[in-house]
Amino acid sequence: MGIVDDDVRRVRDETDIIRIITEHTQLKKQGSQWMGLCPFHGEKSPSFSVNAEKGVYYCFGCQTKGDAIDFVREALGLDFAGSVEFLASKAGIALRYTDRNEGRSRNRRREHAGHVGKAVEFYHQRLLEDPAARPARDYLRSRGYGGDVARRFNIGWAPDEWSELSRHLRLADEDWTATGLGGLNKRGGQYDFFRARILFPIFDAQDNAIGFGGRKLPDGEGPKYKNTSDAAEFYSKGQVLYGLNWAKAEASRMDELVVCEGYTDVIGCHLAGIERAVATCGTALTPQHARAMARFSKRIVLAFDADGAGQAAAERVYEWEEEFGLRFAVAALPEGSDPGDLAGSDPEALRAAIEGARPFLEFRVDRELGRGDLGSAEGRVLAATAAMRLVVEHPDSLVRDQYVMRIADRCMVSADEVRRRGERPASGSGERGRRVGVDTGSRVVGPGHLTPEHQALRLLVHRPEEIRDHLVAALFDDPLNRAALGALCDHEDLHSAMEAGDGVVADLLGRLAVQDASDDEPRGILSRLLFLAAERAAVALEAEARLSGDLATYQPSISYLRTWIIGLREAPSDLATIQPLLRWLVDYSEGRVDA
Ligand code: UTP
Ligand code: MN
Repeated sequence: MGIVDDDVRRVRDETDIIRIITEHTQLKKQGSQWMGLCPFHGEKSPSFSVNAEKGVYYCFGCQTKGDAIDFVREALGLDFAGSVEFLASKAGIALRYTDRNEGRSRNRRREHAGHVGKAVEFYHQRLLEDPAARPARDYLRSRGYGGDVARRFNIGWAPDEWSELSRHLRLADEDWTATGLGGLNKRGGQYDFFRARILFPIFDAQDNAIGFGGRKLPDGEGPKYKNTSDAAEFYSKGQVLYGLNWAKAEASRMDELVVCEGYTDVIGCHLAGIERAVATCGTALTPQHARAMARFSKRIVLAFDADGAGQAAAERVYEWEEEFGLRFAVAALPEGSDPGDLAGSDPEALRAAIEGARPFLEFRVDRELGRGDLGSAEGRVLAATAAMRLVVEHPDSLVRDQYVMRIADRCMVSADEVRRRGERPASGSGERGRRVGVDTGSRVVGPGHLTPEHQALRLLVHRPEEIRDHLVAALFDDPLNRAALGALCDHEDLHSAMEAGDGVVADLLGRLAVQDASDDEPRGILSRLLFLAAERAAVALEAEARLSGDLATYQPSISYLRTWIIGLREAPSDLATIQPLLRWLVDYSEGRVDA
């Protein structure tokens, strides 16, 4: 990143993470850790915990985690270097940078945005002035986008040429490809990625230009849209929301964001006076989108075809409501219309649809009932059953019950009968039906009861010197725990272990790091691990013995293990005494024990 590693470490070590975090949320001391309401998702009871000594935080609700540097990145929206600089200035640490090129890499994002911004300007001028862009201008005008609209959204035209932009920008090859604006041909020449397309520039929330959506003209070639590829630096379609830069002010003010499907929907909303509209860029909503939106507003109105929205997203919608404190609603768009078209034909109807958006489940239940034939007894039962199928997906039993009454009323059936329909999952939705039984609280893996494997890892995180020498992979049954052990053993400290491991491992380590380990006792934990490992090995050998019909060969090993298993009911007084079994288990796991 350019800042000398040692200095980054110093910043991490000398930062009082509690002080930094309490600028954003109140923390209360509980045992050796601190708890508070998570600043990154809405919640009413604290699941955000911080371990001051280790300098890490973890949220049991939304699983965000990290150290002070990560916190500042998340909370203040800074990049890594910016975040280190912020903390360094608080701690009075003068940073050293790695080399003279430093300024270059540090400002990479700014520089990159500069290049893409120049491209935005280049394409925009082409649209406004190039005689060859006339068909594009005509097409836009036919859709109601005159020069004023083109200027407001920086709309551009990529000429039908191979290298107009690259010759204009004259970037080094490396920078050129990083922008996502083009590539290198076989002979090493730069070529433009967008040709003969209307371009909708995409900006991040800080107004940096980061990419484009390129629409072909009606008689153009290729797919309708070509978007900047994920290979471009600073562009990831799973995170980008088109229009967030223009939407964020009204979204924060009104605590509502409108999510559309396409570029022209966003523009249409703006033109209809709804300035809180964004769109994903050629992808379905991801958790990262949900998290990004939650920063600006908690109510999300889905303004796209509700069938598509509803079917694919239901389970995730409820998950995100819980995880990020969001509330999803659906705009009641007239069947078969999208916001872009509606904005042109009937902007008042578009405003009404968005203002009349109803909660996600309510919208879907009512639509299901609306489709049914409520005039006949059979039709009412069918409609009630179909609607209940939607209701059972909701994780909150109180909410479910509200809808049970509603359906019972509308379909003239008893609420109990409707409820029973919900309990017997209809074919095809069996999975969902069953998942409803899961108490959503239990998904939060809190500190409470830990398995011995997790206890061992926790102790290894907190007081490695007490247990390190005795922990071997052979003691662990769960591959994830084994991976976590590997990450901890291969790295000097927790931070590097978390960075090196994959997301799941890092998540587990983060969770263990914020827990209180002061009562953990190595002898007890180890004997429990040994007991379980010996038991597993014994059971496996017994099975092999049975299968082979040759008990005699296996008997000595089995007896050896059984003797240990009995002895291990109590913790050993001295860890030295367990070494033989530990060695045996390692040999066994590596296939070196001939039974
Ligand atoms: P639409 O086909 O609805 O396009 O795709 P649109 O945005 O409404 O454009 P107009 O109004 O027809 O001109 C919705 C979104 O899906 C992505 C784009 O992000 C588009 O805005 N998409 C669509 C693609 O990425 N590639 C495609 O080929 C089509
Ligand atoms: Mn569309």
